[in-house]
Amino acid sequence: MIGYRFMGKAHSNAWRQAPHFFPLKAKIKLDTICGRNAKGVEAARDQLGWENASTDWEAVVNNPAIDIIDINTPNDSHAEIAIAAARAGKAILCEKPLGLNVKQCEEMVTAVKKARVVNMVCHNYRRIPAIAHARKMIEAGALGNIFHYRARYAQDWIVDPNFPLVWRLQKGVSGSGTHGDINAHIIDLARYLVGEFSDVCGLMHTFIKERPLEDSAAKGDGLGGKGSRKMGKVTVDDAAMFIGRFKNGALANLEATRFALGRKNNIVVEVNGSKGSLVFDFEDMNRLKFFNNEDPAGLQGFRDILVTEPGGKHPFVGNWWPPGHIIGYEHTFVHTIADFVNAVVDGKSVQPTFEDGLRNEQVLEAVEQSAKTQKWIKL
Ligand SMILES: NC(=O)c1ccc[n+]([C@@H]2O[C@H](COP(=O)([O-])OP(=O)(O)OC[C@H]3O[C@@H](n4cnc5c(N)ncnc54)[C@H](O)[C@@H]3O)[C@@H](O)[C@H]2O)c1
Repeated sequence: MIGYRFMGKAHSNAWRQAPHFFPLKAKIKLDTICGRNAKGVEAARDQLGWENASTDWEAVVNNPAIDIIDINTPNDSHAEIAIAAARAGKAILCEKPLGLNVKQCEEMVTAVKKARVVNMVCHNYRRIPAIAHARKMIEAGALGNIFHYRARYAQDWIVDPNFPLVWRLQKGVSGSGTHGDINAHIIDLARYLVGEFSDVCGLMHTFIKERPLEDSAAKGDGLGGKGSRKMGKVTVDDAAMFIGRFKNGALANLEATRFALGRKNNIVVEVNGSKGSLVFDFEDMNRLKFFNNEDPAGLQGFRDILVTEPGGKHPFVGNWWPPGHIIGYEHTFVHTIADFVNAVVDGKSVQPTFEDGLRNEQVLEAVEQSAKTQKWIKL
């Protein structure tokens, strides 16, 4: 594992939990965790339960005892690490967004195809049971023809103008701001639930143009930190939104912001079709709301489905607890890693692959281009 903070912790927990709850086709050994700071990575090794700590990702990637590389670093190093890992013949799980731009993502896809290694991009929200169930319902025709996909991903952690210029606010490290960080997730859900985009029209905005530089002595993780007195330019968007069309004729309306006070990790998705509608809210993630237009007229309304039924009725949850004993954020990573491990043993990638990461980046870049030129962009 390369990178040991927010996602490093979430993934370490998932690597550890997956074999306790899911039938895996191989045993997992947590061999080496890697970061840039020797003291920090050693503390992470100890707390997160890895055997070795390293500050040299190239040595880890080329270690013949290691089969899988899990990339949890900021976005500017995904491509270099993943391409080296593919060349070394490793299976790769990479955090999103796959790369900094379309060019990098194309190189990553080429590398994994050439090396024929199993690859996956960590869009973990696909494996929320309610979302996976929504996908099954849509595939089975429960909504009929899809008219609308609307989604909103709202947070509030940088409203304070004194919040420092962390890596997520520097284009060179992150590629884009709110757009690649969280719009990427609802773009992925759009592609998962509805299909491919055909054209987009975007708007991106930066509310706070300058912020205190991060105090290097008190450098925090990607979502925290402390500001110094010196100021630096914010080079990414604070909010990004777009409308668009899907190839199947449905319409899209997406909004992502880090400026919605009170919204912490608010992901709301609504899909409307000719036979019904589905609504999902991450802050109530064990539930799915379903309106079925075929219900008798006097009894119509949104049903509230508690997505915790075992026996294959609802995805993933049967491996956890009895019905109604709900699950949370961390479980989405366990589901992702359980499926990934079995894919590695089978030698066959499962969704979402690096190809999905590339398609996602193509949408991100098209929206960016549209916002810049104030024109619709075809994909
Ligand atoms: N799937 C999700 O829901 C989700 C959520 C948060 C973050 N992410 C993604 O995960 C990635 C990491 O984000 P984070 O929030 O964990 O960041 P973070 O700042 O909390 O942690 C980054 C880690 O990478 C390490 N690192 C940086 N450069 C390195 C290098 N060259 N070699 C070795 N280690 C290096 C740092 O030491 C640190 O441990 C990003 O791509 C981000 O977009 C995904």
